Amino acid sequence: MDRFKIHGGKKLQGSVEISGSKNAALPILVATLLTDETCVLHRVPNLRDVRTTLKILEYLGKKVEYKNNTVTITANGPLKNNLPYELVKQMRASFWVAGPLLTRFKKAEIPLPGGCAIGVRPVDIHLKGFEKLGATCETKAGNVIISAQKLSPAKIVLRFPSVGATQNLLMCACLIPGETVLENVAKEPEVDDVIAFLNKMGAAIYTDDKGRLVIRGQHVMHGAEHTVVADRIETGSFILAAAATRGDVTVQHCVPEHNSILLDDLQEAGFTLTITDDSVRVHPYDGPIKALRVRTAPYPGFATDLQAPWMTLMTLCEGTAEIDEDIFENRFMHAPELVRMGADIATEKSIARVTGVKKLSAAHVQSSDLRGGFALVMAGLCAEGETEVERVYHIDRGYENLEQKLTALGADIVRFNPDKNDF
Ligand code: EPZ
Repeated sequence: MDRFKIHGGKKLQGSVEISGSKNAALPILVATLLTDETCVLHRVPNLRDVRTTLKILEYLGKKVEYKNNTVTITANGPLKNNLPYELVKQMRASFWVAGPLLTRFKKAEIPLPGGCAIGVRPVDIHLKGFEKLGATCETKAGNVIISAQKLSPAKIVLRFPSVGATQNLLMCACLIPGETVLENVAKEPEVDDVIAFLNKMGAAIYTDDKGRLVIRGQHVMHGAEHTVVADRIETGSFILAAAATRGDVTVQHCVPEHNSILLDDLQEAGFTLTITDDSVRVHPYDGPIKALRVRTAPYPGFATDLQAPWMTLMTLCEGTAEIDEDIFENRFMHAPELVRMGADIATEKSIARVTGVKKLSAAHVQSSDLRGGFALVMAGLCAEGETEVERVYHIDRGYENLEQKLTALGADIVRFNPDKNDF
C-alpha cells in the first residue's frame, strides 16, 4: 500500500488551486438517479470516493464518462434498486442512494453502512425521515429494505442537523407531489450546492423565513449541467498547512466565506491573512501561535473535518489549546500519532488539550482516517527530518493530487509503495 515520505522543515510558498468539493460532488452524483435524462457535472475531483460513487451509478444502471474533472451521466436501461455490500462498505455516503431509489421505485434495498474509524455513524435520522414520508424500513441481515405503497409530503424535524440525512430526504421529497418541509436541517455549503443542482433539474426547493427547507415535489426531474462548488475542507487544510510551516501561500479558486470561523480563529492566533472573494493568502508569520479553544459544530460552526489539521497547528502553539470534538465520538485518532512526533496532547472523551512544543520531530506514522491523515502529513511538513505516513489510501479519498500540489508549494513529499520497491 502507498505511503508518503516527507522531508519536512520547509516553509510552503506559492499558490494552490482548490478542487471541487468531495462532499458536494458525491450527493450531486447520486442525485442524477432522479432522472433518466443526461447530466453533465464539472469540477468533479478525481478522488477514490468519487470513483466509488461512479462505480455505484454504473452498477445501478447509468452510463458514466469521466474526463478532465467532467462527468457525463446518461441513462442506459432500467435502474436497479439495490446495492451490494461490496460497494457500500467502501464508502458510507453510498447510503445516499436510498432517497432517489425510494422515491422513484417505492423500494430500495441497501446494506446498512457500517461505522467507520471516526464513529458508529448511524442512519436513524435518514430512516425516521423516510417513515414520515410514508415508507417502512425493515433491517434484515445487515440490509435495510425501505418500501412504500405511496409516499406523501410531510413536515419532518431532524433531531440533529445531519448533512447526509438532509440531502437524502431532500432528494426523496423532490418526486413526492405536494409540499414537504424539513426543519433543523444541515446548512453546510455542500447542501446548498445539492439544492442548486436539484433546482436546475426542475425541483422547487427554497428556505422559508424560519430557515426550514420547503420542497414542492414534482412529477419528473430533468437532466442538468452544474459546476461543483470549491472544496472548503481542502481550502482549510491548505491554509492550515501554510500557517503551520510559517509559509506564504495563496489558496485560489475557493470561497473564503465558507471558512469564516477558521479564518477568524487563525487571525486571532496571530496570523495575517489577505482575503478576496475567491482567494486567501496566508502571510509569513514567525511570532507565537496563540492557544485557542475551539469546539466543532454544524455549519457555520468550526468544521469537524478541519479539527485534525487544526490540532497539528496547535501542537506548535504558545500555552495550552483546547479542542472539543462535538460531532463525532472518536475523531482524535491522529492525536497519539502526533504525540509520537513530539506533540504534547492529552485527550479525555470529546476534549483534547494540546500544550505547545517548540517543534515536532519526524517519525513513521499511520493515518486512520481521511482528515487525520492530512493532519499527519501537515506534521511531517513541519518536522525536521524524514516522516513516513502509512495508509495513504485514507487521504486519497478526499485530497486530489495532494503530493503534486504540495510539491508545487516547495514541499519535499513523494509517494511510494514499499511492497513494490518502487522507491
Ligand atoms: C458528512 O457526513 C460528511 N461526509 C463528513 O465528511 C462530515 O464530517 C459530516 O457530514 C459532518 O459535517 C459527506 O458529506 C460525504 P452527519 P455525514 O450525518 O452526512 C450523527 C469527510 O472527512 N448521525 O452530519 O455522515 C453522526 O453519527 C467526511 O469528508 C446520527 O446519529 O455526517 C455524527 O455523529 C467525514 N444519525 C453526526 O450525526 C444519523 O442518521 C454528524 O453526522 C445521521 C448522523
